[in-house]
Amino acid sequence: AQVDPTALTRLSKDVNHLGPSYNTTVKLSSNNWTFNKTLSNLIRKNILRFLDPERDISILKGTLKPGDIIHYVFDRHSTINISENLYRLLPTVSPMKNQHHRRCAIVGNSGILLNSSCGPDIDSHDFVIRCNLAPVEEYFQDVGWRTNLVTMNPSVVQRAFQDLVSEEWRDRFLQRLQSLSGSVLWIPAFMAKGGEERVEWALRLILLHTVDVRTAFPSLRLLHAVRGYWLTNNVHIKRPTTGLLMYTMATRFCEEIHLYGFWPFPLDPQGRSVKYHYYDTLKYEYTSSSSPHTMPLEFRTLSALHRQGALRLHTGTCD
Ligand code: CTP
Repeated sequence: AQVDPTALTRLSKDVNHLGPSYNTTVKLSSNNWTFNKTLSNLIRKNILRFLDPERDISILKGTLKPGDIIHYVFDRHSTINISENLYRLLPTVSPMKNQHHRRCAIVGNSGILLNSSCGPDIDSHDFVIRCNLAPVEEYFQDVGWRTNLVTMNPSVVQRAFQDLVSEEWRDRFLQRLQSLSGSVLWIPAFMAKGGEERVEWALRLILLHTVDVRTAFPSLRLLHAVRGYWLTNNVHIKRPTTGLLMYTMATRFCEEIHLYGFWPFPLDPQGRSVKYHYYDTLKYEYTSSSSPHTMPLEFRTLSALHRQGALRLHTGTCD
């Protein structure tokens, strides 16, 4: 197949053309979307110049030992110790080794998913990626329940599980972990300081209750490499969000990538309010200029890729 060398240039033009006020006026054609295999292959190839998701998805056991000290990626002056538990839970081979899937779903956490009835659609994919241990049980009609890989920022333990202050919260957290049976639990433990204890609590529970998850701890170079790829394509993101990290990595393992729950705006295209998360009361202030992320810019980028058929963004209902 012929690769269109202007495709990515067009992407950056498209993204910048939309301007900073781009919000709810977005129109994503969904009926006439067709997969652009050529562009998708080109993107995969270009991303591989910056990172190898199969490798960078996790540090492996052979490369570290208990007691080693690591400088946080974003807080270079602070360090974290490789504990015995962390060492025990480092994978010996990449959890994504030789994995190739035809259709993958990446589920972001926007309230746009509520009343979408997208659950069965999402679950019909060959590989389902979710973010930050977002709950599924109570929302399965809209978000589905299958999970092959789920991320867990250490801050989730505090935000969603009250820092495990009581027996009840510990049980809830344990139950959430146990519900992941067989999937990859991706913990960015070395990104920013402040989460060491929370990671340790999670790891202790996993070991104590022999929870059936495959833990992964992203490499120290992953975030800079992902940011580098997007910067090179003129997409000036600050720190990539979990959602964008997942898309960037998924290009390596997935043929067709479908995104759900990506909508960093307080109103939907019809002007109705949209919750920041489908499952809690976190507000949009969180996406203000003090946030490390540039979610609307990321969204514009993903929309441009949607229009070119490299990925499919689902922002409407699925019935
Ligand atoms: N997301 C979105 N619109 C929202 C909320 C989330 O597009 N209103 C996407 C983002 O790509 C985000 C992902 O869904 O990274 C997962 O959401 P969340 O758990 O809220 O991630 P954050 O904690 O906000 O950001 P991160 O984990 O990337 O620091």
